[in-house]
Amino acid sequence: MQTAGVLVVTIDNAPVNALSADVRGGLMAALAAAEGDAEIRAVVVTGAGKTFIGGADIKEFGKPPVEPMLPAVIDRLEGFSKPVVAALNGAALGGGLEVALGCHHRIAASGAKLGLPEVKLGIVPGAGGTQRLPRLTGIPAAIDIIASGRMVPAAEALSLGIVDAVATENLLDAAVAAAADLAGKSLRRTAELAVPTSTAEENEAAAAKARARAKGQTSPLEAVRLVLATQNAAFADGIADERATFLRLRDSQEAAALRHVFFAERAAAKVEGLEGVEPRPVSTIGVVGTGLMGSGIAVAALDAGYTVIGIEQTSEAAEKGKERITALLDRNLKSGRIDAKGKAERLSRLIVSGNIGNLAKADLVIEAVFDDLDVKTLLFQRLDGIVRPDAILATNTSYLDPDVIAAATQHPERVLGLHFFSPANVMKLLEVVRGAKTLPDVLATGLAVARKLNKLPIVTGVCEGFIGNRIFSAYRREAEFLLEDGALPQDIDAAMEAYGMAMGPFAVFDLAGLEIAWARRKRQAATRDPAARYVDIPDRLCEAGRFGQKSGRGWYRYVDGKRTIDPAVTELIEASRAAKGLTPRAIDADEIVSRLLKAMADEGQALLAEGIAARASDIDLVMINGYGFPAYRGGPMFAAAAKAGAA
Ligand code: 3HC
Repeated sequence: MQTAGVLVVTIDNAPVNALSADVRGGLMAALAAAEGDAEIRAVVVTGAGKTFIGGADIKEFGKPPVEPMLPAVIDRLEGFSKPVVAALNGAALGGGLEVALGCHHRIAASGAKLGLPEVKLGIVPGAGGTQRLPRLTGIPAAIDIIASGRMVPAAEALSLGIVDAVATENLLDAAVAAAADLAGKSLRRTAELAVPTSTAEENEAAAAKARARAKGQTSPLEAVRLVLATQNAAFADGIADERATFLRLRDSQEAAALRHVFFAERAAAKVEGLEGVEPRPVSTIGVVGTGLMGSGIAVAALDAGYTVIGIEQTSEAAEKGKERITALLDRNLKSGRIDAKGKAERLSRLIVSGNIGNLAKADLVIEAVFDDLDVKTLLFQRLDGIVRPDAILATNTSYLDPDVIAAATQHPERVLGLHFFSPANVMKLLEVVRGAKTLPDVLATGLAVARKLNKLPIVTGVCEGFIGNRIFSAYRREAEFLLEDGALPQDIDAAMEAYGMAMGPFAVFDLAGLEIAWARRKRQAATRDPAARYVDIPDRLCEAGRFGQKSGRGWYRYVDGKRTIDPAVTELIEASRAAKGLTPRAIDADEIVSRLLKAMADEGQALLAEGIAARASDIDLVMINGYGFPAYRGGPMFAAAAKAGAA
């Protein structure tokens, strides 16, 4: 399109205008045409639909390169003799922002978001992002943006100097006017700008923060190095280093794992049997039980804009529940996540009472009471008679059978499981449990609500522990076998933490508390297969009054909250081995990691065979988002498959 001597080039490559080979070729062709046409005095580049450019085409990674390559396209844009203005109509990410940085002027729509999220794919920007961005923002801000991969809203991008203006009215009109205005003037080329000065302390502070956040991942460290180099290196040298680093990382295992996670998240949204099924409308959510879990769920629902009805058994308990919810909101106020107005507005959408009859107004009721079958079935019977016929009932049980809970109602088809992870207002994972009788639109509603709560919902079938806790049990079992075989808790934790787990298994057990698992083992004792291997060390530990971090002693001793190795635990383990006549052997970190990964992956295969999980990648997402598995390893199923492929 051409207006007043300005050629508007619109990138139209649904769904996100990724920079596929055709788009790169198309941009080059448009520039060539504009060059030769004396009528055209300036160019505007924009995107069709709601995205400017979603970045390089991730689906092309791993395939043979096709000319023109992106850096060449951006060099051509930047070196163009006529002004090129980027009109950022929506997300400008990765290569998309790099295209914009190569333009001579940038205008963003007020809702546009900018970012270089490459580190989240295990790579660094590969088309000038690490070299051009610091020339606009200075080094500390560029480190923050590139090493975190975060999205920068338009207003912040303006204050950081990434864009030159934010359009308040028609973006395209503003961009065309700016382009026409620049025609014939000298052009501001980002590559030619000096990097704004910042002190060594400021640079180092930003770098240290980014390195601490990287937690074993390589790409953020490389991004920091490349940005810091802009202090001294010439632009061309920096670009060459960036491209070589990008190509090296693109072929790394870390990048393959993170690409897998990216596509896994999109695949998880596609649930068999729900094509074309409309979710039911939900605006009011009831939460029964406002303890640790229920108060977190209530805050997540308030944050997402729902009206929340909290229910407790008595008005005194309701008062306490309201205090817990308010305390969580206060914490978010203190950390700056919400402001005082936001807190007041949330509280205006909250009622907590001892009157269960209030739930007649709820569209969805989430139960978060004590995990006991009698308690839950009685509650569901009552709820069944109180809520509207079209309202949905959800149980937050971790281990009980939702089908048994549903069977206590007249309408099991409107019951599903919504298994939150603690703290429920923070953790991304939400297991959405499809019961034997759950209707498709009930499941679809669970998923829609989960997404509005800003969760990553993963659909699971019914089994003891669903996907996550079932795999975690297998992990726990193998960790206990390792203890008997010769490893100590600190060896196992150190190996898994070096692998990238947020915490080693024994530190996690201590944090969660050991008594619930102990009670379960005692319950299961009568039905346990006597031929199956059983490790009694955790029982000995509990008998010695060691219940984990809360009691100051568990697999470790806790001094001022800090875990320290306790020789008493080593003695207890040695005594247990000796009582069974076992001879310990040295077990190295490689064996620890291999055995624990295999235990998780084998259990995952069983879940797939039983139809509990729909795909291996769903299992990976559960372990990454609920159990501290490092995303850059791709999840246990991906890691096991990669290991098998490499062997
Ligand atoms: N390449 C290929 N496909 C992409 C893609 C990309 N960069 N980004 C998104 N897609 C696909 C998704 O896989 C999905 O496909 P599907 O429908 O078949 O499942 C579809 O586009 C829609 O994606 P979303 O569901 O994520 O759509 P949203 O509207 O929710 O979000 C988005 C849009 C914010 C652009 C989001 O898709 C996103 O964050 N994309 C990735 C952005 C990114 O990481 N870019 C950097 C790429 S690396 C790079 O640019 C290297 C450069 O420096 C050289």
